[in-house]
Amino acid sequence: MTYSFTLPRWFDAHVHLRQGNLLTTTIADQLSTGCASVLAMPNTKPPITRISGPSSETSMTLSEYHDELMNHGADAFENLILPLYLCHQTTPILLEQGVREVELKACKYYPPKGTTNADHGAPIEHYIKQGIFETMKELGIVLCLHGESHSLSHEQYFDQHINAEKDFYLNTLPRLIDKYPALKIVCEHITTKEACDLVSSADANVAATITPQHLLFTVGHLLRGFNYHLYCLPLLKFEEDRAALRQAIITPNQTHFFAGTDSAPHTHKTTDCGCAAGCYTAPVAPNLYAMAFEAAGCEFSSDSTLQLFKNFMSTNGCQFYGLAESTKTFTMTKTASELTPRETNDGTLVPLPTGLNFTGTEHLLSWSVTI
Ligand code: NCD
Ligand code: ZN
Repeated sequence: MTYSFTLPRWFDAHVHLRQGNLLTTTIADQLSTGCASVLAMPNTKPPITRISGPSSETSMTLSEYHDELMNHGADAFENLILPLYLCHQTTPILLEQGVREVELKACKYYPPKGTTNADHGAPIEHYIKQGIFETMKELGIVLCLHGESHSLSHEQYFDQHINAEKDFYLNTLPRLIDKYPALKIVCEHITTKEACDLVSSADANVAATITPQHLLFTVGHLLRGFNYHLYCLPLLKFEEDRAALRQAIITPNQTHFFAGTDSAPHTHKTTDCGCAAGCYTAPVAPNLYAMAFEAAGCEFSSDSTLQLFKNFMSTNGCQFYGLAESTKTFTMTKTASELTPRETNDGTLVPLPTGLNFTGTEHLLSWSVTI
């Protein structure tokens, strides 16, 4: 049966819009899905580590990045949250300047060298010593966490009983929460049962985003035939982890979990000696999320599913970041949609699920969006 439902436009609490030529495409794709507001990541080149004034070769300012986004269509978003990239140069005074001058709402922790353009991050201990988290707590600035331990051995990075994310949520985050119980924290793109357990049982000031790919796929989908368009960080995990993520989003009245696609465009996914981490999902994120809810056992003909989906897409993230829920709407219809690669002046972007080499039907888009 073909059916439709209409929701308030949604909030993407974690997206990479990038810079320059890519922006026209990434912003238009994002808006085309009924996305009202975004939190756009600061791992640009150079990274966004200062507040205002001119950028330099090693550091971009939030105000310049804001202007660049606006010049490429981001003025159509209802809200645009731009976090500051935490690095060795971040100081409490800089954070105060951010709040004063640009209403700084969030800062991003990247594990040093842990993912795409994460070369500038400092270890957690550094920010503790410098009073950064203390100041963030006092100013009400949200800590956006890429929750993976860095500097692990290869054996610990991804193994049967331990991996970089699991280690972070078992050993680092509990310590951080004990030390700063009132700090607002978003555990971004969580992938493990351990992260789900910690966030579910935490107070309301600790929340998490979950991507469509981590809800839909497991590491087997990536590894069979090396489906490199699924290569992102944190890596896809196991069935037990995916089940925990699915359970988290379908728990009635849950307020801890919300959409954050981590849509991350790469025009060159593979090189001679590696693979760029990041999945591009901007043109189809609500479609993929709807498929994930169905895979989790929900039927969109029921009011309870619609409520769960609305909370996840349109309500919980806004509430956490203090944004008004959109008064505009978008409509989803259960009918297949077509998806094509995006040509940009920097090269081609292949959005998920195109590019995947499965023989089954689990990756075919079964939903369409109209705005
Ligand atoms: C992101 C990117 O490409 O910027 N990549 C990814 O695999 N998710 C960075 C990040 O969020 O880790
Ligand atoms: Zn990201």
